[in-house]
Amino acid sequence: MVENDVNDRARPGRGFAMSEDDVRVSKRWLALREAADAAARAQDLVQHLAQEPPATGRWVIHDLACGTGAMGRWLAPLLAGPQHWVLHDRDADLLEVADVPGPAADGAAVTTETRLSDISRLRPLELADATLITASALLDVLGEDELAAVVAACAVTGSPILLTLSVVGRVRLAPSDPLDRRVATAFNAHQRRRTERGRLLGPDAFAFAVEEFGQLGADMLIRSSEWKLGALHADLTSEWFTGWVQAACEQHPELAAEAVDYARRRLTQLAAERLAVTVDHADLLVLPRPAVRIAPS
Ligand SMILES: C[S@@+](CC[C@H](N)C(=O)[O-])C[C@H]1O[C@@H](n2cnc3c(N)ncnc32)[C@H](O)[C@@H]1O
Repeated sequence: MVENDVNDRARPGRGFAMSEDDVRVSKRWLALREAADAAARAQDLVQHLAQEPPATGRWVIHDLACGTGAMGRWLAPLLAGPQHWVLHDRDADLLEVADVPGPAADGAAVTTETRLSDISRLRPLELADATLITASALLDVLGEDELAAVVAACAVTGSPILLTLSVVGRVRLAPSDPLDRRVATAFNAHQRRRTERGRLLGPDAFAFAVEEFGQLGADMLIRSSEWKLGALHADLTSEWFTGWVQAACEQHPELAAEAVDYARRRLTQLAAERLAVTVDHADLLVLPRPAVRIAPS
């Protein structure tokens, strides 16, 4: 799954069949990354959205794979008008605490409901009332068929779709270290690993989504949304780095011996405020053109 969630395997979500291969994300990790995520997302894409408020005057926003609702906590105060957020996730424990308190940019009310869903199996009817669909930090954990299904389910609605913080497989650490590249390559291979649900797209997911929406004739706006981590984010950086290296070693066990010293070196640099990390992500705003919307099946 994303970055350091690789070690967070736990019991399945209550009342929902997650497979053994499904890696769970902890509330702690989501809380740790929330501020960096908020700083990284491309705000100018929201201005494009704001220019075309829903004809009904009320946003109905389906957030796919919402976690604890961080996307909504970022976006709701940036959009004017009443909003109803439908928060989808397959993890019941996360949904239990998921919340988007609002208010909207103009003080309008924000309401929420949660739905235990596998977002790769959404039926068109489930998104039919959407005036906006969002997802954040999701695409890399999906396989090709799953992402194609998500794209199709979203495109049917004809609503705009905002997909933020997709990892694209590029990480920079400064100063550099001879092991950086090998760890990065092994980590990316881990993201593309085969699971019982098929091979995950990992860092290829963003390009795949762009290709799929492109084939549907949608207009798209793409922005980069880097995490720039340094001394101010020591806890997040340390957690991210540790998970990054562990995933790399899980993929290529022959790295493990060297990785012990490497991790010690890097974490010492971090503690001494001598390490800066950039994790590249990309944001995508899809604006379907009415003429090319596909009909609900
Ligand atoms: C890295 S977290 C991001 C959470 C949230 N969007 C955020 O930005 O904080 C990925 C989320 O995707 C959810 N998820 C992954 N695959 C899913 C699926 N097939 N159906 C529903 N939720 C899924 C996980 O449970 C997790 O909450």
